[in-house]
Amino acid sequence: MHKPLLETVAGLRQATPPLWIMRQAGRYLPEYREVRARAGSFLELCYNPELAAEVTLQPLRRFDLDAAILFSDILVIPDALGQTVRFEVGEGPRLEPISPEGLGKLRPDNLIPHLMPVLETLQRVKSALAPEKTLIGFCGSPWTIATYMIAGQGSTDQAAARIFALTQPDAFKHLIDILVEASIAYLVAQLRAGADVVQLFESWALNLDEVSFRAQVIEPNRRIVAGVRAEVPGARIIGFPRGAAGMIGEYVAATGVDALGLDYAMPVGFAGKLLPQGLPVQGNLDPIRLLAGGAQMERRIDEILEGFANRPHIFNLGHGILPETPIAHVDQLVARVKGRN
Ligand code: CP3
Repeated sequence: MHKPLLETVAGLRQATPPLWIMRQAGRYLPEYREVRARAGSFLELCYNPELAAEVTLQPLRRFDLDAAILFSDILVIPDALGQTVRFEVGEGPRLEPISPEGLGKLRPDNLIPHLMPVLETLQRVKSALAPEKTLIGFCGSPWTIATYMIAGQGSTDQAAARIFALTQPDAFKHLIDILVEASIAYLVAQLRAGADVVQLFESWALNLDEVSFRAQVIEPNRRIVAGVRAEVPGARIIGFPRGAAGMIGEYVAATGVDALGLDYAMPVGFAGKLLPQGLPVQGNLDPIRLLAGGAQMERRIDEILEGFANRPHIFNLGHGILPETPIAHVDQLVARVKGRN
């Protein structure tokens, strides 16, 4: 069956770019909030295959989207490795910060058994999904996961992880090695459970100089791409190094990802110059433009569509949709991309 989004990742430009929305299952949808309230905690929702499959499918019932993305979170990996992870309502994730001594307590052997419910979610979504829709799996990339494991929460500058990496390089390398292996095993399991393509969320690829970017972003992601393809030949992989700026060309060449997710700060023309001809791109509308809606949003959608008209393009936001986004604006976005107004 023809899957326009998967074909675009494989390098075939579609007359109408396929579309999905980062964080498309989430709090801007009342039906999500309803299931979320029933599930108990956020992690309980992630580990409940029936409810997680339900919220995965919700956005596709409302909008003409070309893909479902597994409902889970990047922080299920540290949770599965045995680090304490909690989600505080209104505050975001809280982890017990890891120390060099604590690395020995992580349990890589526990990873896949712990994540079996997430794999079951994929199987359930796969069997419910229309055949022309692409199923996207994902994980967080090692550097991004490490920033949360070390600081114990999100931060604006990732200083704790950057200092850890520079002052305790051996312990840091050990942590990255654990996360690379965990990511490979988890993504291989997702592809075997039904994911058509997987996305590597490197949400904190910003704030790194070029030397650290090569060491902490490019090299671990390169190893994951190679490791996954060693087990699943031809596995399709989208890289999303948010904030990679002038490093995107090198990131693509070195990692071998099939397609590149662009954040909204990336100028369309600049990306066109840095990236090889024919490389599929995904993005990159600013989520705040979607929240604001109206003519400014439609103008920017048109600019992005025109800017990437010469290569395979998956339309998306340049980062996750904001919880306050009006649903009518999402309808307007979908209609504009699909050429219906
Ligand atoms: O895209 C999707 O619809 C699939 C589900 C998904 C979630 N998180 C659900 C979620 C995906 C792909 C993620 C990825 C994720 N999680 C990232 C990378 C992408 C990005 O946005 O940069 C990161 C950094 C996280 C970590 C995380 N999870 C944070 C910082 C937070 C709190 C901030 C917030 O928005 O509340 C979460 C919680 C989270 N993950 C929610 C959802 C729907 C909201 C929690 C809730 O419903 O109570």
